[in-house]
Amino acid sequence: MKTDSASFQSADSLFPKDRSGVIEWLQSRGDALEALYRRADAVRHARMGDEIPLRGIIEFSNACANDCLYCGIRRSNSKVRRYTLDEKEIVDLARQMEAWQQTTVVLQSGEAETYGDQAIGELIRRIKTETHLAVTLSVGNRSREVYAYWRDCGLDRFLLRFETSDPALYARLHPDGSLKDRLDCLQALRSLGIQTGSGFMIGLPGETIEILAQNILLCRELDFDMIGIGPFIAHPDTPLGGESNAYANDPDMFFRTMAVLRLANPQAHLPATTAYDALFPNSGRNLALQRGANVFMPNNTPARYRKDYLLYPGKPCDDETSEQRASHVFLRLRSLGRPPGVGPGHSHRSQTASAT
Ligand code: 5AD
Repeated sequence: MKTDSASFQSADSLFPKDRSGVIEWLQSRGDALEALYRRADAVRHARMGDEIPLRGIIEFSNACANDCLYCGIRRSNSKVRRYTLDEKEIVDLARQMEAWQQTTVVLQSGEAETYGDQAIGELIRRIKTETHLAVTLSVGNRSREVYAYWRDCGLDRFLLRFETSDPALYARLHPDGSLKDRLDCLQALRSLGIQTGSGFMIGLPGETIEILAQNILLCRELDFDMIGIGPFIAHPDTPLGGESNAYANDPDMFFRTMAVLRLANPQAHLPATTAYDALFPNSGRNLALQRGANVFMPNNTPARYRKDYLLYPGKPCDDETSEQRASHVFLRLRSLGRPPGVGPGHSHRSQTASAT
């Protein structure tokens, strides 16, 4: 058996120097694929440990001003019943999360100013004073000034996927902004000292394996603290409703991508995202956690709103309470033999960065 240190040294020294090498890894099959998965899991174990930090997500509003072609809550989808939680409900939920060993609250919404930048700032401040939770926001593009204000309110982290690294494909899918705008926002967040997460969808219509490899290389180059990826799933009430995932005939690609991403970014936090379970019910996120991922994000959105936050179909939206769901998370982790994380689960990158 490989030793831990051998496996993580090799992750850095053996990583392909160019895109064609990454593409080759993404085409692994048979024994080579099994070996790729084993290496990704070994590097995850060596660099991130076995603990799985739990970041509980609250989808606090589905109001959205953007019209991204793939997304179920896009502005033009008039079938969506729009909702926004009030501050009290969000803070009450955050308080309960502490008892469920969820040490971070992820506040996610559509990309609209409905809630108000100041109201979000006050919400961050309240959660930071009334709980021990780390706070992550995922609410889209804003100005550097607004990000700075939220940081001053206590914000720890921000998630903003670049979705695809190909500028032309980005432009086709996003009528409301360019890839450059998005990368500028990521740069602003990083320079403000906010732990920054990004990521992409796998298999967007029009994506080639070259673009997929480039997505991984961009994550490596920008050295994000967290990277969230997941398969594109067509939503019937969007312009891409009739399209299929570019890897519909090769679903191993979703896991190969996770494994290569781990080898490209040995110390980033990589969540096993819900989209893996939407495609592979009950097993997708477990497999992701065995092939490079190290973070789990339980969904704490109140049951009565879950059906209204369908970015893609197949998202688990049962009638269970958040508490029941939280207990299922423990069963899942136990079945994987991995303990829930203790402590806030901050970036491993910023620990090394602040030490230099
Ligand atoms: N399929 C898969 N993922 C999607 N997202 C949005 N729509 C879809 C879809 N149809 C992802 C985007 C976004 C994240 C919150 O959800 O990557 O950043």
